[in-house]
Amino acid sequence: MSYARITGTGSYLPPTALTNDDLVARGVDTSDEWIVERTGIRSRHLADAGQMASDLALEASRKAMAAAGISAGKIDLIVLATSTPDYIFPSTACLLQSKLGVSGAAAFDVQAVCSGFAYALTVAEKFIRSGSHRCALVVGAEVFSRILDWNDRGTCVLFGDGAGAVVLEASEEPGILASALHADGAHHAILEVPGQVCGGKVVGQPFVKMDGPAVFKFAVRVLAEVAHETLDLAGLDATAIDWLIPHQANIRIIQSTARKLGLPMDKVVTTVERHGNTSAASIPLALDAAVREGRIKRGDTLMLEGVGGGFTWGAVLLKF
Ligand code: UT7
Repeated sequence: MSYARITGTGSYLPPTALTNDDLVARGVDTSDEWIVERTGIRSRHLADAGQMASDLALEASRKAMAAAGISAGKIDLIVLATSTPDYIFPSTACLLQSKLGVSGAAAFDVQAVCSGFAYALTVAEKFIRSGSHRCALVVGAEVFSRILDWNDRGTCVLFGDGAGAVVLEASEEPGILASALHADGAHHAILEVPGQVCGGKVVGQPFVKMDGPAVFKFAVRVLAEVAHETLDLAGLDATAIDWLIPHQANIRIIQSTARKLGLPMDKVVTTVERHGNTSAASIPLALDAAVREGRIKRGDTLMLEGVGGGFTWGAVLLKF
């Protein structure tokens, strides 16, 4: 049975950057000092009014396909992770497919909030390992700025927009080595957007609502657990990890996870300072940044892991 291996990465950040001081200037009751100390975030990118998740996904996908040396016609599966889709339906994956100018491949979205990319990559890997598909485009794309309440300083300073993508192909070389996904819906209320459209009106709240400290505690616990579980599945220990690429929500959560795994911070990719939390896009954005900076090299062992609303969490261990 062949492995599923990442053959190209790409990412895209909308050009408008917003610093912490810009938030203060916009009237948010916060400070650069508070945000940096509590989260590590200094800046984030915001999509322009006309940019949808599929537009960000398109730019990231084009770069990933160029890096893999393939054309869109070769892709037989598109799995796109987002919690900020263009429309209620069709899926953002189908809209991306149309923008890529191709047809025929299976295309669908997965919704696991900030764990979305770990879920999407794992789902795509199962398709490839089964032999039914050979070349997947796996994307995380978000426009979280659309679902932020700019009067809620506990959430609006945390998130940003962006997209990341990988091409995942059948290969005789490893490849994804192991993955683990989990959810516990009992904790849905600590991070949610409890709104819906009904009869042409928004019912409930169309903004991110979060119990920050509860999310923090949950994240720190499950990120270490799921990393160990995934290493165990592969018969490896944490010394095998060349690079940890965690979901970029908060530098303190990332540092705590690294500590629990016994990894020094120079083995951890961090982009939270300049991207903020881009939800499902954060892992592929960080991966692509480290690849393009020449830090991650072919043959390196990577641990990708995320946690987010649902609650959901998951990890993917792979040879790059
Ligand atoms: O992708 C997964 C999604 N989210 C996360 O991973 C987020 C996880 N949680 C966190 O990162 C942290 O809980 C936060 C960064 C959200 C908050 O940090 P904290 O250290 O847990 O602060 P807190 O919520 O306990 O609030 C402490 C104080 C409060 O003031 P009082 O009650 O002590 O006077 C808040 O009102 O900080 C205040 N505060 C702020 N002050 C300035 C909350 N947000 C802000 C702000 N600027 N933006």
